[in-house]
Amino acid sequence: MECWPVLLLWGLPQMWASPDALPPPGSSDHHFLPPPPSSAPLRFLQISSFANSSWTRTDGSFWLGALQTHSWSNGSDISFLRPWSQGKLSNHPWEQLQQVFWVYRSSFTREIPGFAKMLHLDYPFVVQVSAGCEVHPRRPLKTFFHSAFQGSDILSFQGTSWVPAPDAPHGAEVVSNELNKDLLVKSTLEWFLNVICPLLVTGLLEAGKQDLEKQVKPEAWLSNGPPPGPGRLLLVCHVSGFYPEPVWVRWMRGQQEQPGAQQGDVLPNADETWYVRVTLDVAAGEAAGLTCRVRHSSLGGQDIVLYWEGSHVPVGWIVAAVLASLLLVGGGVTFWLKKRRSYQHML
Ligand SMILES: *[C@@H]1O[C@H](CO)[C@@H](O)[C@H](O)[C@H]1NC(C)=O
Ligand SMILES: *[C@@H]1O[C@H](CO)[C@@H](O)[C@H](O)[C@H]1NC(C)=O
Repeated sequence: MECWPVLLLWGLPQMWASPDALPPPGSSDHHFLPPPPSSAPLRFLQISSFANSSWTRTDGSFWLGALQTHSWSNGSDISFLRPWSQGKLSNHPWEQLQQVFWVYRSSFTREIPGFAKMLHLDYPFVVQVSAGCEVHPRRPLKTFFHSAFQGSDILSFQGTSWVPAPDAPHGAEVVSNELNKDLLVKSTLEWFLNVICPLLVTGLLEAGKQDLEKQVKPEAWLSNGPPPGPGRLLLVCHVSGFYPEPVWVRWMRGQQEQPGAQQGDVLPNADETWYVRVTLDVAAGEAAGLTCRVRHSSLGGQDIVLYWEGSHVPVGWIVAAVLASLLLVGGGVTFWLKKRRSYQHML
């Protein structure tokens, strides 16, 4: 296998000549960093598709906690999604970082087909990477680099070496043995995870503080779901438009939580807020008096409480029905008036 970090370490040495630069490869000291104001992991997600030995694309994104900060589509530079996406880096170190990622991407897409050939893998396949770090004011630095093949964990970089994932196919061991021979890849990765990533995340946490600490209040409403059976009702409590993601939603009778409620996945809205629904299957006679209670950090301790009062026909339908009847009545009146006028004409 070729050594892509050779390029990284010695191919671009002039980049590290400037005083305004990233800490050079090989350095491992990050004690100069002040502790961040709050914490959130910085995560780099990569997806590389290999359709055949000649067609491939790699796309990536960067996430600070739940906020996407950068996108990186195939063949382009990393682009900023926030005014603060450059963190505390000035232009020169940022450009160095772009270079590092360019080298990484081209080496990655060159090396993988080599492994595919060695292991007789069938095309098409997908390789994913999730890598990053978390700097916490009172805990040691946490770093991670996991990769997946066809959606299943295959190997990770732990401390100073590659480790196949538990239950991974035999190929994972072959690949990690091969990668472990490459000391330059390993030391570059260590440098990146232990020096560059904390530098990046600390700057981003500071620059993006306002967005990270944003609080948006939820709206909540109730509706009927499809009846689960004869004589039964499916009560649905919708909660939408909140940020951050953690939320507590329960069906209650008085102070008593109702067991058997089902919470769906918390889903993203298009405006970076979240949506969730919690359903409860009850006998029709027992629905009255139930409440849906919503607790969220934006509400300052004031829970939202919604009372179930009989059937909830969606408001949209009511509006549509009213409009339709108005149109019918209006149409009838116009028709009648027109008719009358034409009769008058004839007279
Ligand atoms: C490789 O895959 C691409 C995309 O699916 C396809 O357009 C192309 O014809 C394939 N090339 C070969 C040599 O099979
Ligand atoms: C992805 O980018 C690489 C390098 O810039 C390029 O060679 C490749 O053709 C691109 N793939 C697609 C599908 O556009």
